[in-house]
Amino acid sequence: MRHVCKILSPTAENLDLCADLLRDEAVIGVPTETVYGLAGNALCESSVRKIFEVKGRPLIDPLIVHFSSIEDAEVHVEFNQCARELAAQFWPGALTLILPKKASISDLVTAGLPSAAVRVPGHPVFRSLLERLDFPLAAPSANPFGYVSPTLAEHVESTLGDRILVVLDGGACDHGVESTIVDLRDPDAPKILRPGPISAEALGIQITDTPQTKTPEQTAQAAPGMLTQHYSPNTPIQLFSHGEQPNGVQGSDAIVYNTKPASSEPSADTFWLSESGDLAEIAHNLFMLIQKMDKASYTRLHVERAADEGIGVAINDRLSRAAAKRE
Ligand code: TXA
Ligand code: MG
Repeated sequence: MRHVCKILSPTAENLDLCADLLRDEAVIGVPTETVYGLAGNALCESSVRKIFEVKGRPLIDPLIVHFSSIEDAEVHVEFNQCARELAAQFWPGALTLILPKKASISDLVTAGLPSAAVRVPGHPVFRSLLERLDFPLAAPSANPFGYVSPTLAEHVESTLGDRILVVLDGGACDHGVESTIVDLRDPDAPKILRPGPISAEALGIQITDTPQTKTPEQTAQAAPGMLTQHYSPNTPIQLFSHGEQPNGVQGSDAIVYNTKPASSEPSADTFWLSESGDLAEIAHNLFMLIQKMDKASYTRLHVERAADEGIGVAINDRLSRAAAKRE
């Protein structure tokens, strides 16, 4: 299909243009500090509908609403004390809170749930855009449903470029994995629905087990946690344990280590995500490398799991879903 999409540098003029497009109910690609988002006016049903259409996302999967400040968020969702404390500590930033919604947020955004996911993002370009608008922006990750999330404007252009007019370029996303989602509907029992850049340790919240039984309500509630197969490149992924070597490597496969291995399978191409083994750097580079390798013609990618701590929990969560077999 013909690509009509333009990647726009974040000049004041281009930010004004993007704000005008959003006022005209368009959806556009935007940079955030986690991954690129597919943004539209959260208070306009036709814009929200376009987000689902462009992404090919089922209407039962609710969207995150992005605000420029906690005060703006308080207009549309009910904060409790715990939410205020977490927001004060981590916003602007990679933390999404699930809170009871007010009537101004439509059922379309929340997939019929009485709660909404809200976040004040930290990326300066996204913030400049939000500050130009008098409405919040609903934005899922800007990938076709089920595919790897985008961490460069080019990723959005190459996968959704035939369906949107512009992607605002904010460079490579700092974190490289989606925000941590915390369910705060019961302020006495906060739950992490999706691990992310802000770790359970930093939040002081235990990660609870993902429920096995799925009512439609839970499916929507439990964030991507309920979708076992998600974030998947076209090339099959096989995981191997942290610090170990992969099994069954073929010549047309590639191996992705956390850091440069002391020795590796000589027959296959070898890559690593960080020189130092730093988990934040591994997260930052992960989707970028997987998107790049998905364009090469490897038969299989063997990817090393990360250490299961800090942002490594989020890395392993995304890797497990990327490696899950298609149903
Ligand atoms: O970092 C991020 O969170 C990125 C950037 C663009 O902000 N966004 C993102 O959105 O990852 P998305 O749509 O790909 O994932 C958000 C997940 C959804 O899959 C959904 O399950 C969950 O958040 N979610 C949204 N609203 C919810 C709600 N009311 N209750 C429970 N989960 C919700
Ligand atoms: Mg997503």
